[in-house]
Amino acid sequence: MKIAVIPGDGIGPEVIKQACKVLDKISQIFNIEFELKEVLMGGIAIDRTGVPLPEETLDECKKSDAVLLGAVGGWKWDSLPGRLRPEAGLLGLRKGLGVFANLRPAMLFPQLKSASTLKEEVLGDGLNIMVVRELTGGIYFGQRGRRDISGGQEAWDTEAYTSMEIERVARLAFEISGKRQCKLTSVDKANVLESSRLWREVVCQVAKEYPDITVNHMYVDNAAMQLIRNPRQFDVIVTSNMFGDILSDEASMLTGSLGMLPSASLGEGTLGLYEPIHGSAPDIAGQDKANPIATILSVAMMLRYSFQLEAAAAAVEAAVCRVLDKGYRTADIMQPGMILTGTEQMGDLVVDEIC
Ligand code: IPM
Ligand code: MG
Repeated sequence: MKIAVIPGDGIGPEVIKQACKVLDKISQIFNIEFELKEVLMGGIAIDRTGVPLPEETLDECKKSDAVLLGAVGGWKWDSLPGRLRPEAGLLGLRKGLGVFANLRPAMLFPQLKSASTLKEEVLGDGLNIMVVRELTGGIYFGQRGRRDISGGQEAWDTEAYTSMEIERVARLAFEISGKRQCKLTSVDKANVLESSRLWREVVCQVAKEYPDITVNHMYVDNAAMQLIRNPRQFDVIVTSNMFGDILSDEASMLTGSLGMLPSASLGEGTLGLYEPIHGSAPDIAGQDKANPIATILSVAMMLRYSFQLEAAAAAVEAAVCRVLDKGYRTADIMQPGMILTGTEQMGDLVVDEIC
């Protein structure tokens, strides 16, 4: 299995190193050969090649069975024009790989319940929401521009969706719902936006093929509010690129552990892009402080979704749980009475627990 590895910027290389140790252990235990190839993307690619997504990187990723990404971006590149920023590399990669559905599970680890900002009674016996975010369309990729007008400037970005783009991500969300609680919430702003009205129509069409799944439609402002009022009403949420960007950050913070959450971006085939949902955190880069668990759990998603190695995925997840049970915590999830652990040590602890 060929895996393209993109360490990227900030804490990216540190967390990726731990994830690679995990892959190594999985390879030994399950007797699977992984061929890892490191490629450049983001700020480091700008520094070395002048562009955030070199052609060789995209080619190498397309030739692989999966792509593992750390994080991109940092202060150093913040003043570059939009298309030359590290983030443009990430968007180009998503588009280039055709990974139109971004799965962002927001789950509460029972060991970290008190890390959530929500009251215990709101969390109940746990939270497990899957946000399915459309990833290669909408306002992120619509026409944008700027022009001089009298008295200043005007700038615009366009939210555009085709029915095909909505249909394929909706279908994937229905499939995922079918393997969970058969409850899907589609989030839009159909009371104002035409693109949202099309979104809702298409979701209703696709829903006819999935009679066992209960669908409800919610405006995005209401969804943002409901997520903190009563998050347990949600199972799978499907929404557009920008609404998904915002709601997935909100949903993940409910669990109190941004540093713990993985993501998978999938398209038509089995090639997937796997990355932690946290960013490059330049303020703590190179200090052995970053939590590698989100990246390690992204490896678990890779094993599950791209390689259909459910047992190996479960082994990684179980190892993470055991390490938490033993009281080891990186700084971001540290609590009184627990054992403070650095990035490397956390990686080693998880590797040791994989069996
Ligand atoms: C994310 C990030 C990216 C996005 C940025 C870095 C371009 O916020 O993956 O959620 O907006 O998609
Ligand atoms: Mg985001």
